Amino acid sequence: SNKTFTMIKPDATAKGHTGAILDQIIKAGFSIKAMKWTRLTTAQAGEFYAVHKERPFYGELVAFMSSGPIVAAILEKDNAVADFRTLIGATDPAKAEEGTIRKNFASSVGENAVHGSDSDENAAIEGSFFFSGLERF
Ligand code: GTP
Ligand code: MG
Repeated sequence: SNKTFTMIKPDATAKGHTGAILDQIIKAGFSIKAMKWTRLTTAQAGEFYAVHKERPFYGELVAFMSSGPIVAAILEKDNAVADFRTLIGATDPAKAEEGTIRKNFASSVGENAVHGSDSDENAAIEGSFFFSGLERF
């Protein structure tokens, strides 16, 4: 597929990095197909990250992701899922390559500035979580 889904996470919106992150995403060749500024409830964050329910950091992750505003977006580019994960870098910013979004803007493995879908299937599921059919074109 040529689509992926991203969120700019609460740490990055709070620090005022939203514009710079979107700029880096667009300059890397992604186009924005849908986008919204919103805030998740703890229930919504728990549902979005349900695949991580058994992980030890699940409670922390849900609390963090509902702690402030996020930007949710569907992005388009050839090879979108893999290329976007390359652009954002490793989950832990200390291990992320120089120049990646997490290297540039993330503070820790938990508060790591951005989300990127890990498969075409999850990109479609996650995009549908935030955007109705009318909002996806
Ligand atoms: P996403 O793009 O957000 O899905 O990140 P990822 O695919 O690089 O990592 P993964 O799916 O394994 O984990 C999802 C999210 O859980 C991460 O982005 C972090 O925000 C959080 N997370 C992962 N590992 C840890 C951890 O050890 N501690 C804490 N507090 N949070 C973690
Ligand atoms: Mg993931």
